[in-house]
Amino acid sequence: MDFPITRRGITVVSFGFLVCVLVALISSLALRAENQIDRVAEAYQGFQDGKCKSCHPAIWREWENSMHAKAWVDEIYQFAANQVPDRETKCDQCHAPQPILITGVGKMPKLRDNQREVGVSCLVCHLDAHGAMHGPPASAETYFHANVTNPIYTDPTALCKTCHGQPSVPEHDQVSSFLDSRFAEKDQGCATCHMPIVSRLQSTASYESIKGRKHTWRGSRSVAQLKRAASLQLEYVSGEVGVKIQSKTGHVLPGGTLRTMILEVTLLAPDGAERQKQQIPISAKDGNRLFPDENRTSVFDVPSTTVGDTIKARLMYQLTPETPESAWILMAESVHIVP
Ligand code: HEC
Ligand code: HEC
Ligand code: HEC
Ligand code: HEC
Ligand code: HEC
Repeated sequence: MDFPITRRGITVVSFGFLVCVLVALISSLALRAENQIDRVAEAYQGFQDGKCKSCHPAIWREWENSMHAKAWVDEIYQFAANQVPDRETKCDQCHAPQPILITGVGKMPKLRDNQREVGVSCLVCHLDAHGAMHGPPASAETYFHANVTNPIYTDPTALCKTCHGQPSVPEHDQVSSFLDSRFAEKDQGCATCHMPIVSRLQSTASYESIKGRKHTWRGSRSVAQLKRAASLQLEYVSGEVGVKIQSKTGHVLPGGTLRTMILEVTLLAPDGAERQKQQIPISAKDGNRLFPDENRTSVFDVPSTTVGDTIKARLMYQLTPETPESAWILMAESVHIVP
């Protein structure tokens, strides 16, 4: 008679134990998941409340003035996106993305449903699904977030490619032409030219300045960057001008499909009067962008030169098709006096 009761007893006990273990396991998993979601939500809240700004004031200022911070509010973007009926699936996901460590580096980003106005924010490039911040090796710890050293930040081209090299969005691709160039072979990356090295306190809680990279991402709105983009050489041989452009840009030039460079040759009389003017546009629309390191010579006929005339070659940058000639930016210039 004892046997079945004991057996039942054992069964009941072990079943009860199993349930307990399962309940404990499930609730601890649920708690952890909830914790993770909370940490991600806390990071968003911290960003909103100015916490990132207060501990990382220098980096914040750099980012705040960059086009990444303006990727959503940028009027040129909003105007273009408003022409696209399904902008929410075709455009907005890169201009106000969810953190790419969560949606997957290299994968097409996903549209955020909150804080869209801050565009490509700190969280987009640094926050993981556990609420930790990934970055290059750190020198200090913080209670606000965990730090994870991730080698992708030391050479971030793969990170940039997530938005600047999606195969289905060739209009915004600077990465493919870069990878095919000698710049990539020379161990350079997008950061070499767009995130120059700087020594500074990485946060207000850090004890020493360590090397980091500027979060400014200067591009075609920077005159200094445009002056570095290419060099120009002019050669005059009786009635003909050869103008050589050498690209020094790490990708196709101009880098964006909205931009146009204008190569202009003018012939001026000794008194300054304009005798002849020719312009060649260089853009994605014209199908003649320069490849990295390309050397290109364009020949202009100047049949009516006389001694003392000035031949002037200029390379200029037009931000959008609407930018008036008076606002074109001079990138390079070369002058020759006819002997
Ligand atoms: C794969 C991510 C991605 C998608 C999708 C995307 N963009 Fe962009 N967009 C970028 C990146 C990166 C840049 C900056 C580099 C460049 O201009 O090529 C940019 C820049 C722009 C600019 C230039 C803004 C300026 O100030 O000059 C415009 C305009 C623009 N995008 C419009 C659009 C429109 C319209 C769509 C949808 C049809 C779209 N984008 C979809 C990533 C994306
Ligand atoms: C209480 C101060 C504090 C706050 C708030 C804070 N951080 Fe940090 N953060 C630090 C410190 C300290 C480090 C380590 C700095 C160093 O290496 O010198 C750090 C490092 C980082 C790193 C580099 C991580 C690595 O491993 O290289 C990133 C990225 C970062 N923070 C982003 C953020 C963002 C985004 C926010 C807002 C959501 C934020 N931080 C809020 C103090 C803070
Ligand atoms: C999550 C998407 C995303 C990632 C990742 C990203 N960018 Fe961008 N980037 C953009 C968008 C969107 C713009 C366009 C902003 C605009 O003009 O409206 C942009 C603009 C730029 C510009 C143009 C600034 C100008 O003045 O025209 C540069 C340069 C740039 N990014 C460099 C980088 C580099 C370098 C990396 C990698 C470290 C990177 N980006 C990573 C989305 C991204
Ligand atoms: C477009 C992507 C991108 C955005 C947006 C971005 N970062 Fe970074 N961040 C990087 C990369 C790439 C590095 C690695 C640079 C290096 O090698 O030092 C980095 C490095 C850092 C570091 C380590 C120290 C340093 O200067 O290298 C900190 C701290 C940091 N970021 C904080 C921030 C904060 C705070 C914001 C927002 C104000 C922000 N980042 C926005 C890409 C980004
Ligand atoms: C050797 C230096 C160099 C390297 C490397 C480089 N760039 Fe550039 N980048 C420039 C210069 C110069 C300009 C300004 C001229 C122009 O419009 O292309 C520029 C412009 C840009 C622009 C602005 C385009 C626009 O329409 O306004 C973006 C975006 C950009 N680069 C992204 C990248 C990315 C992503 C990488 C990595 C694959 C990269 N760059 C590598 C020098 C470089």
